[in-house]
Amino acid sequence: MNVHDSEKVVGTLMQEGYRQVETVDQADLILYNTCSIRDKAEQKVFHRLADYKKLQAQGKKFGVLGCVAQQEGAKIFERAPHVSLVCGSASYRKLPEMLTQLEGASRAVPGEIPPPAGENAGVRDDAFLNRGGAESTRDSGLTTRDSLVRITGLDDRQTDECFETEFTARTNPHRGYITIIEGCDKFCAYCIVPFTRGKERSRTSDSVLAEARQMAALGYTEIQLLGQNVNSYQDPTSNGRKKRSFAELLAAVGEVPGIKRVRFTTSHPRDFGRDIVEAIDAVPALCDHVHLPVQSGSTRVLDAMQRLYTREQYMERIAWIKAAKRDIAITTDVIVGFPGETESDFAETLDLLEEVGYDGVFSFKYSPRPNTPALNLEDAIPDQEKARRLEVLMAKQRDLQIPRNRNYVGSIVEVMVEGHNQARGQWIGRTSQNKTLNFTAPAGKSPQSGSYVPVLVTASFPNSLVGEMMSQDESTAKTPDV
Ligand code: 5AD
Ligand code: SF4
Repeated sequence: MNVHDSEKVVGTLMQEGYRQVETVDQADLILYNTCSIRDKAEQKVFHRLADYKKLQAQGKKFGVLGCVAQQEGAKIFERAPHVSLVCGSASYRKLPEMLTQLEGASRAVPGEIPPPAGENAGVRDDAFLNRGGAESTRDSGLTTRDSLVRITGLDDRQTDECFETEFTARTNPHRGYITIIEGCDKFCAYCIVPFTRGKERSRTSDSVLAEARQMAALGYTEIQLLGQNVNSYQDPTSNGRKKRSFAELLAAVGEVPGIKRVRFTTSHPRDFGRDIVEAIDAVPALCDHVHLPVQSGSTRVLDAMQRLYTREQYMERIAWIKAAKRDIAITTDVIVGFPGETESDFAETLDLLEEVGYDGVFSFKYSPRPNTPALNLEDAIPDQEKARRLEVLMAKQRDLQIPRNRNYVGSIVEVMVEGHNQARGQWIGRTSQNKTLNFTAPAGKSPQSGSYVPVLVTASFPNSLVGEMMSQDESTAKTPDV
């Protein structure tokens, strides 16, 4: 999500005349996008900001964006006085204006009106911006005189606005993200997102489809629809037709000419409908993969987490996915060591891994987050115990993935080529099921990044597959018996 936010921020500012530069040295303005979902994110941010402090003497300016900006607000100015701008993710649309203010304040002397943003600005990387024209960073408006300028864009949780821009600076030329819904109203007891990203608000399906068509016209073939909870997507306007549900929007994106693969993340099990599985079965471009975070296999813990479903209800959704005509890979997120999680709750989570048979699990130690209801729960689990549970869980999942991936050996699958590993003489591909498949190509063949090629799977590891590229006529796609 944050990666795509950075792409949108960079694209929008480039449109305003900024230029993205290659190194911190070249930058006039460094924008640091932050995430605070886990760990001691805020501490890491302050450490990084402390590193940047020495660059202040060169006249560089600093802004903090994202969840830590939203969470810490003006406290950032106190702890890192060299920072001039703090902006939460629901206020990014105001960034050009805020930067104009920042530049104006830099130039202003008493009695002068700050000038508007100049035409010659420059930006760089998701963390670094600059406004200076050509190679110069000298004549930018962002000078040291404004060391006390403080520009704050903090979000109102109730905002109805989405950050829509047609100027996203996508970093990959073949696959890209489209945000369909921002914010979250679920308030899971451990989660900071509803506090940092505002309330749930959906983009119109027409606007999403227009972006998908624009991407197809630019040569993109894979789209990933993004949202904290894509299943609670609500088309805000009907525009003279029926409002599209999430499954209908998903299918419509999958039918955009030129789009070969569509993924979506993240799904909340409570809102996950059977219609999504039906859409995957019906529309070939929708990928054979669902990420359905469970968080815990114990209904008691799920209740304490305020996840709004039981283990049985979760398993019902898994049954729908498994009943599909297509072989849909399932991945999940798990938190271990939530306050009050007993050995027997944890054992239920381990058992669930086996019952579902996931293709991948992202597992995390519970990390207390500011403002969240779980902070007030008793029976915190000691860090050492959380670490032990995490290790046990990861080892178990690794063992389960070995036979799952072995089932693919001997089958032919289509991959999108993502890159080349020169040292190993292998190309890197991704299957529709979101598995990494490293493969060799016949002598003289050099598949291009972004192309789709058939690959015979010859070996497997817990986290990846290995194969040999087939010539198109050799390949009669054979699906594995998983
Ligand atoms: N501690 C640990 N993991 C968390 N996640 C979200 N908040 C926390 C937290 N406080 C995990 C969840 C979520 C994923 C994106 O991050 O598993 O699905
Ligand atoms: Fe956080 Fe829960 Fe919302 Fe996901 S659904 S972003 S875990 S509050």
